[in-house]
Amino acid sequence: MKNIAIFASGTGTNAENIIKYFSTKNSARVILVLSNKSHAPVLERAAKFNIETGFFDRHQFYDTEEVVNLLLKKKTDLIVLAGFLWLVPDNILTLFRGRILNIHPALLPSYGGKGMYGDRVHKAVIAAGEEESGITVHYVNEVYDSGDIIFQARCKVYPDDDIHSLAERVHSLEYEHYPAVIERFVGEM
Ligand code: GRF
Repeated sequence: MKNIAIFASGTGTNAENIIKYFSTKNSARVILVLSNKSHAPVLERAAKFNIETGFFDRHQFYDTEEVVNLLLKKKTDLIVLAGFLWLVPDNILTLFRGRILNIHPALLPSYGGKGMYGDRVHKAVIAAGEEESGITVHYVNEVYDSGDIIFQARCKVYPDDDIHSLAERVHSLEYEHYPAVIERFVGEM
C-alpha cells in the first residue's frame, strides 16, 4: 500500500475524486492533503474523509524543512499536485524526484508555464482557435509545466465553446483519467 500526499490550492474536486477512488483500493491511499491557502475548500473536502490536512505559508514551504519532515513522518511515497500553483522547492524535489505528478488542463507543451492555470488556459486555447484541447499528467520539476509527460487525453473544442463549457469538458477528462494514471504509476513503483 503506497501513501499519497496531495498538494492543492483551491476547490479540490480532483483531490476529492482521487481520495474517493483510492478509498476502495489496496494499491494506495491518500494520507495527507496540504494547501498553501488556509481556507482552501480542498481542506474541508479532505477532512470529510477523515484525511489529515495541513496548511503552509510561503516561508514554511520555501525556507524550512517542515513540509518535508511531515511528508517523511507520514511515510509518503508519492506527491500528487491537484490544482497547486506554487513551484515545489528543492528540498522536496530532491527527496521525491520522479515521484511528484501534476495535472495540467491542456495539451502541454502548449498553454503551460507560469501564470497559465485555470480559466486562463481555456481562454488562450479558445482565442487561438484550437480544435482540440485536453489534459496532461507530467512529472514535476523546478520549472512550471515542463517535466516529462506521462499521459495525455484529448477532447474537442467546438466553435461555440466558452471558457465555462471547455473547462467542464476538460474537468471531466481529469476525473476520468487522473486517478487511473496515478494507480498505474503506483503499480510500477
Ligand atoms: C484542474 O483543472 C487541474 O488541471 C489544474 O487545476 C485544476 C484544479 O481543479 N492543475 P480542482 O481544484 O481539482 O477542481
